[in-house]
Amino acid sequence: MDSARYPHLLAPLRQGRLALRNRLAHASMTTRMAQDGRVTQSLIDYHANRAIGGAALIVTEPLSTASHQRLPHKVRAWNDDDLDGLARWAEAVERHDCRLLAQIQDPGRGRHERGRSQAGIGPSALPDDLSWSVPRMLKPGEIRRMIDEFAASARRLERCGFSGAEISAGHGHLFHQFLSPWSNHRDDEYGGDFTGRLRFLAELVAAIRVSCSAAFLLGLKLPGDDGVPGSIDPALAAEIARALCQSGDADYVCFTWGSHARTLDWHLPDMHWPRAPFAEVTAQLRRAIPGTPVMAVGLITDPAEAEGLLAQDKADLVALGRPLVTDPAWLAKAAGGRAGDIRYCVSCNSCWGTIVEQRPLACDNNPRVGAVDEADWKPQRATRSARVVVVGGGVAGLEAAWIAAARGHRVTLFGASAEPGGSTRLHSRLPGGESLSSVYDYQQVMARRAGVRFELGVHASAQDVLSLQPDTVLLATGSKPGWPVTLPRIWQEEGFVPDVRGLARTLLGRTERQPGAAVVFDQDHTEGTYAVIELLARLFEHVVVATPRERIAGDVPLVTALGIHRRMARLGIEILPLHELSAESRLEDGAVALASVYTGELHFVPDAALLTYSTPRVPETSLEAPLLAAGIDVRLIGDCRMPRGVMAATAEGYAAAMAL
Ligand SMILES: Cc1cc2nc3c(=O)[nH]c(=O)nc-3n(C[C@H](O)[C@H](O)[C@H](O)COP(=O)(O)O)c2cc1C
Repeated sequence: MDSARYPHLLAPLRQGRLALRNRLAHASMTTRMAQDGRVTQSLIDYHANRAIGGAALIVTEPLSTASHQRLPHKVRAWNDDDLDGLARWAEAVERHDCRLLAQIQDPGRGRHERGRSQAGIGPSALPDDLSWSVPRMLKPGEIRRMIDEFAASARRLERCGFSGAEISAGHGHLFHQFLSPWSNHRDDEYGGDFTGRLRFLAELVAAIRVSCSAAFLLGLKLPGDDGVPGSIDPALAAEIARALCQSGDADYVCFTWGSHARTLDWHLPDMHWPRAPFAEVTAQLRRAIPGTPVMAVGLITDPAEAEGLLAQDKADLVALGRPLVTDPAWLAKAAGGRAGDIRYCVSCNSCWGTIVEQRPLACDNNPRVGAVDEADWKPQRATRSARVVVVGGGVAGLEAAWIAAARGHRVTLFGASAEPGGSTRLHSRLPGGESLSSVYDYQQVMARRAGVRFELGVHASAQDVLSLQPDTVLLATGSKPGWPVTLPRIWQEEGFVPDVRGLARTLLGRTERQPGAAVVFDQDHTEGTYAVIELLARLFEHVVVATPRERIAGDVPLVTALGIHRRMARLGIEILPLHELSAESRLEDGAVALASVYTGELHFVPDAALLTYSTPRVPETSLEAPLLAAGIDVRLIGDCRMPRGVMAATAEGYAAAMAL
């Protein structure tokens, strides 16, 4: 045990009803792994692996704990339908000396998906700030019935072996909506003043205490600062926490950030935020509730950061959401002196994108989320060792190479660049991208450890590959920009209009600002494009982004898009929707003209110093035909199969290596 390096993180916590083996909690994460309202084996495996990996407490995703919550992706706990599933789930986690707490939550009027909620309920008939969903106002009788159902569900969960429950009253959900003067305009006993706004939650806490045993754990996720004017700031958050903790019924408080508003992205700060951005305000709020353990959450990715927070007395526990999705053995590795083997969360929020699109939780940097043997996994040996050539040193090729070699294959990897990482490496050098280096750094370390032979800085020809007499070639040669179809081909040959990625390579390292505007034609809508645009904003007087769609950032999760818009607004970047490049775009006098996609009318940018484009990439597969002609078993992975993001690349690299 590396308890010398992480003494606070590894120290047990004994306070009131809480008795935990260390200070690490798994924050509630919606997995979309339940089916037909029932517990599935992958849901059990996902949580059991986080317990095996060291977490002392795990909060589940929100369960169906009241009869109005009949959603197939939420496990039913409000009736006896799946007692066996609940019991197997609890046993699989608790047997590893890890407390399993079920989350009680209702989104109320909040909605993460596009469009308005048709089934939202709330304190008042007021729209949320994001989806403009107007909820049905709950009647006092309904509130009391709901409290009874939540409390009965807590009792049922305890009977099934759960150690406790966490009420999610932050993140802009139903209880948060009742707590906030911004969303609760009632004048009955569940609103009106501070005490009235707290009544729903206070009565629920009391009801759970009555219905469950004295040992049952009860955590509160409370708003710490929701960032909405007139709602809950840290001062009001402290008052709320103080009032709710007075009874001694809460075993811990986890302060959360943001709301169902333009601050939705505060829930899960991405890679553009500083690390542990809420540590100071957590410490400040903790002082308001002496005696109640406080759990810090939000962009704590490294064991040293967690240790520092605890050592500086800013929190009593540290909760990790995304970092434990990426590496369930995060703590076990740190405790075992192997922090360098942690596969780090890169805070890209692709995981959030998957669940909002109603797919099971997945991760850019962990292709095995929910696998039965996920924690501290080592690839099993193949029955026969093959000669494998991987062409391409991006994250698809690297993932395939290290796993294939760890399985006992003899692997050579050709990379065109002297440094592997491909387009992910480029992105990591752009504004906000630094954490992405964790993806290829881990892969490279593992590949070298497994004995992969690297041929870097080599544009491998078919002959180079064939000379190694491979049994299988994994082609991971990536993609290249497509030329904008509305532009004359002659311009491409002249090279006057570069693509954003090629341009970024030439601009990196420059600092001097240039007069005039950089005009970006955005027909890509992925994050890498906006990272280049931020770089351009540092180098040019003015940046104009034109897109043929009605808005930008259409192909990134909503939380990511909020951040992109906020940064672009702060940088003064001009967005021109529903405009595209045309044959008339490049004008002789240094101006650029963009045509309206519906009327053709031209919009002029008079002082253009640069015109660049980002279009859907096309696969780079030139080696496929000659290798197939030579009778080689060729398999395409990553962008050269179909251009997509990091998640698809690592997933396909993993799958290809496992199929060898
Ligand atoms: C994919 C995803 C799903 C989440 N689902 C929930 C949820 O169901 N309930 C909840 O209270 N918080 C949920 N959260 C928020 C996390 O519990 C946590 O507060 C947040 O991710 C910040 O912690 P982190 O930086 O360690 O990821 C979710 C976050 C993510 C990324």
